[in-house]
Amino acid sequence: MAIPQHTAKAMEHEQRRLVGQSRVVNARRQMTLSPVADRVQIRPPRAADAEQLGVLNRQLGYATEMEELVSRINKLSELQEHFVAVAEVDGTVVGWVQAEHRFSMETGDKAELVGLIVGAAARRSGVGRLLVQAAEDWATDRGLRSIVVRSNVIRPESHSFYRNVGYTQSKTQHVYAKPLQRKSGV
Ligand SMILES: CC(C)(COP(=O)(O)OP(=O)(O)OC[C@H]1O[C@@H](n2cnc3c(N)ncnc32)[C@H](O)[C@@H]1OP(=O)(O)O)[C@@H](O)C(=O)NCCC(=O)NCCS
Repeated sequence: MAIPQHTAKAMEHEQRRLVGQSRVVNARRQMTLSPVADRVQIRPPRAADAEQLGVLNRQLGYATEMEELVSRINKLSELQEHFVAVAEVDGTVVGWVQAEHRFSMETGDKAELVGLIVGAAARRSGVGRLLVQAAEDWATDRGLRSIVVRSNVIRPESHSFYRNVGYTQSKTQHVYAKPLQRKSGV
């Protein structure tokens, strides 16, 4: 089932409202609401988050059916080599991160950030930094000594972000893809 347009709009509005409230309060130097970063809860995803995750994914250009998202959340929660977390602010999911424990002939063990998004309305509030920190903590706890991320050239904001949170560019790549033919009987 696709996410209805009005639901997506309402969620985006809610994300904007939460961050807006905080900015107004900060501007007035009142302490009734703390800054967004202080109100963020980083936690594992739940099936009930699927709708809000769908809204975020659409901002990245990925339109995923809700049933498929629920199935991915459930599957990822069972895969020990993967880490997934969402950032929740006052009941609304405003971002998510995924990391993976990789192992290869070339480099042995390492962590890779394989997904990160903070909703457009919640950006520049420290949420991305917290999500990446959570993934790094997970990797460190597994004994991993390095973490990499591949960042698309069409996302310049993420390049500034990664540099700012301690990453250095090590190479530029081309990514090739090929659909595979289904074998009969598989
Ligand atoms: C990249 C992204 C996750 C950053 O999330 P965020 O919550 O806005 O990041 P933070 O607020 O934690 O930013 C931390 C620091 O990174 C830098 N930064 C973040 N976004 C930036 C931008 N658009 N331009 C310049 N610097 C930026 C800043 O120095 C910032 O600190 P400051 O706000 O105190 O100056 C978010 O912009 C996003 O989801 N973009 C679209 C999806 C994407 O590109 N994902 C990465 C795929 S690899």
